[in-house]
Amino acid sequence: MATSSRRVPLLLLCLGVLVSCSFAAGSLDQELDITWGDGRGKVLDNGRLLTLSLDRTSGSGFQSRHEYLFGKIDMQLRLVPGNSAGTVTAYYLSSQGGAHDEIDFEFLGNVSGEPYTLHTNVFTRGQGQREQQFRLWFDPTADFHTYSILWNPKHVIFMVDDMPIRDFRNLESKGVAFPKSQPMRLYSSLWNADDWATQGGRVKTDWSHAPFSASYRGFKADACVAVAGGRTRCGATVGTEGTGAPASAAGAGDWYNQELDLTLQQRMRWVQRKYMIYNYCTDPKRYQQGLPAECSMQ
Ligand SMILES: *[C@@H]1O[C@H](CO)[C@@H](O)[C@H](O)[C@H]1NC(C)=O
Repeated sequence: MATSSRRVPLLLLCLGVLVSCSFAAGSLDQELDITWGDGRGKVLDNGRLLTLSLDRTSGSGFQSRHEYLFGKIDMQLRLVPGNSAGTVTAYYLSSQGGAHDEIDFEFLGNVSGEPYTLHTNVFTRGQGQREQQFRLWFDPTADFHTYSILWNPKHVIFMVDDMPIRDFRNLESKGVAFPKSQPMRLYSSLWNADDWATQGGRVKTDWSHAPFSASYRGFKADACVAVAGGRTRCGATVGTEGTGAPASAAGAGDWYNQELDLTLQQRMRWVQRKYMIYNYCTDPKRYQQGLPAECSMQ
């Protein structure tokens, strides 16, 4: 990756600064690197705001400096307003390599006045095809809203303004792979996907509205950060770094053991009933050999 040469000195810097490092909150450019788009991605307002833009020539994107092995990652996004048909704003965690793990939010734009589609997916060991899509209960272009991924050893929970919309549970005991050993980096990009994104590719990007722009603020990674030698550093347990301790939850916050209580499970089911527009688990046509195992356990 483009930033690998910068990563080492930054890591050393982090160890020097100790606790402050993995808990973002400060300037966005301390935690995120704009990695492509030739100036189309910008950090503004003393590091409080990040914008990505897309025009006919290119989109743009950023990634987190750290890789995480479990965490609660929050970001506030305001999506491309007006006629955003054909544009996709992707916001996801991903590990590297072929058998990679990935946790995706993707926002598919639309013509003015028509709703965005929030697309979600979970990949484990390179295997995805677990799409669930939602409408939002607000206009995601009018203001910032918080999109969160809570990833701990038992759950991957997608949240919108603290409302859980999807819970991918650890069902390894039932033979379903779960992401839990490959560290993941956060990525986001704004790009043109008018070959498929809007109304199945029928509506094309209208370049007379370019440049398209999406905005980010309020990044917070309350997470275990991958450090050298396959170890992780969770929250304030920086002191154990370098002692050869295995990855452990020591120092991680409440998120590490968080599950949805009954109230939150009910809220999630309500959102799913009202706003889910596609669920791979209710699409048996796709699966000749039967639905994926987790579908009967949700
Ligand atoms: C765009 O709006 C149309 C009409 O309301 C809807 O069918 C479609 O799902 C929306 N989203 C996308 C990404 O096409």
